[in-house]
Amino acid sequence: MKNTNISTSLSWLEVSRENILNNIRVIRKKIGSDVKIAAVVKANAYGHGYQEIAKILEDETIAFLAVHSLEEAFIINEGNFSPEILIVGYVPFEQLQEAVEAGFHLTVYNTETIEFLEKLKIFKKAKIHLKLETGTNRQGIDEKELPKFTELLKKTKNIELIGASTHFANIEDTTDHSYAQSQIDRYKLIISEIEDAGFEIPIKHTASSAASLLFSKTHYNMIRFGISLYGLWPSKETYLSYRLAGGENNLLTPALTWKTKVAQIKHVPKGSFIGYGCTYRTTADSKIAVLPLGYYDGYDRKLSNLGYVLIKGERAQVRGRVCMDNIMVDVTNIPDVKVEDEVVLLGRQNGDIITAEQMASWAQTINYEIVARINPLLPRKII
Ligand SMILES: Cc1ncc(COP(=O)(O)O)c(C=O)c1O
Repeated sequence: MKNTNISTSLSWLEVSRENILNNIRVIRKKIGSDVKIAAVVKANAYGHGYQEIAKILEDETIAFLAVHSLEEAFIINEGNFSPEILIVGYVPFEQLQEAVEAGFHLTVYNTETIEFLEKLKIFKKAKIHLKLETGTNRQGIDEKELPKFTELLKKTKNIELIGASTHFANIEDTTDHSYAQSQIDRYKLIISEIEDAGFEIPIKHTASSAASLLFSKTHYNMIRFGISLYGLWPSKETYLSYRLAGGENNLLTPALTWKTKVAQIKHVPKGSFIGYGCTYRTTADSKIAVLPLGYYDGYDRKLSNLGYVLIKGERAQVRGRVCMDNIMVDVTNIPDVKVEDEVVLLGRQNGDIITAEQMASWAQTINYEIVARINPLLPRKII
């Protein structure tokens, strides 16, 4: 969908350049100048917009833009940005040739991929990062499979080993980081086995946002910085661990504001039902504002009768079920609300703020899902 005129959109997103740059500066200060940054821009840059975030980061020294898939890599690549692109997800065999020819770095964790790469007729070497299993049991090479990999890699002509990575299972959900420590120990062990087999590993990377913020020993020479690039904490536990370790308040600044406009105002008498399923009945004569967005746009249906939006800096609660393309909110106590008034669904308006964390708790999910699920078709604007 082409959206040239943002002011005519039913809902839209504003991305603060200053806040994204602030978050990058904050993390750079923490990790020091010898550690590279891979900015994680998968899932439409966590809902902030692939191109918008890549553009904001253009003048920063970012080593990689990390995406999940080849499709995402090509979307980012359209902008001709200078950082290299690292695909952290799976690339199927039939896409490998294209991925290598485009110069994207691949995350590899099975021997079949290495064997397939070796059979390709390519003029460029495939740049690979081995993903090591350290306890997450998602993608990753198990230690006992390692000799098979190193033997294979010794014989390959098409492959250049650039990095070795792992991903923590339990750094965000707890203030007890003993499991993460066991993963670091395992990573160190597997890394030394690869090096003992005669390989050099130019880039070692393990840290997502939580690890980057909490543990300098996870930084190695690159971090993969996702949620906190966008100004969001990976979890309450991460924030708590950070503060208990003496970290300052207001370190990160959220960068996303999601807005819409009032489409209709209606006066409904006491005892009226609102929306599908008649799940809400007014307890007094009420003034209801109809907003032209819904779960198709990424406004979670679990916010039905629970969420709030901001109008004139005041909170208006969602009444009735969130529909596919509409929601209704109660503006009975907010004076002078008119059609076309600006509404903030996520972010700040005057003195109040709706955070991704609040929305996540109303919708029984996490801030990651709230932002990542905002429909990519909605226009994003850098402010
Ligand atoms: C492999 C990998 N690295 C890094 C990240 C970034 O994590 P975060 O958003 O917590 O910084 C993710 C996110 O899911 C990931 O899957």
